[in-house]
Amino acid sequence: KSRDTIAATLLAWYDRHRRKLPWRALPGSMPDPYAVWLSEVMLQQTTVPAVKPYYEQFLALWPRVHDLAAAPVDDVMKAWAGLGYYSRARNLHACAKAVVEQHAGLFPADESALRALPGIGPYTAAAIAAIAFGRRAVVVDGNVERVVARLFAIDTPMPAAKTAIRARTDDITPDERAGDFAQAMMDLGATLCTPKNPACALCPLTASCLARQSGEQERYPVKAAK
Ligand code: ADE
Repeated sequence: KSRDTIAATLLAWYDRHRRKLPWRALPGSMPDPYAVWLSEVMLQQTTVPAVKPYYEQFLALWPRVHDLAAAPVDDVMKAWAGLGYYSRARNLHACAKAVVEQHAGLFPADESALRALPGIGPYTAAAIAAIAFGRRAVVVDGNVERVVARLFAIDTPMPAAKTAIRARTDDITPDERAGDFAQAMMDLGATLCTPKNPACALCPLTASCLARQSGEQERYPVKAAK
């Protein structure tokens, strides 16, 4: 089945080429859900290099969710200064309080319970469920959208293509290692399957990629008509 081939090929590539990022646990071990949540909230509208120093600083100031929940919100806003989209910082603090008050300080593993928390939308809930808890979840960010639109040569223009992209991502998401699979898709999109000049010659999925087969990889995802 293409689902198993694509996932197995991608996971083998990830085992050799995964980016070393501060929020990733050592291979084979599970990361701290608090750290995963913090990194995913920061990464949603901000690049990896910009997030790194903030992520380290937040964990140094507030190593556990209880510490963040107990901090004055103004201290959290100050530490966030420079990252932008400040509603994320306000929600971050509210979410830490909710996890302490409603969940005894332990992040829930369920996507629906995660989505009920402040600042956690469908993407973040899926990412935390998969990466922190090993749950099978369909994790779609901008990088994943591009990879999947190319793999399956999805001709519908964005944003209407999102429905098909989600369905195809669901098709190829494995039952095991869904968190590694999601992060492998992100790494592929960030390092090889880039918007311009994708490095198809180095891509582990080149043999399965329908866009590549027609030489039209850069056309996907198809832009909305102007
Ligand atoms: N962007 C959002 N989440 C990420 C992650 N876990 N690893 C790399 N890039 C990301």
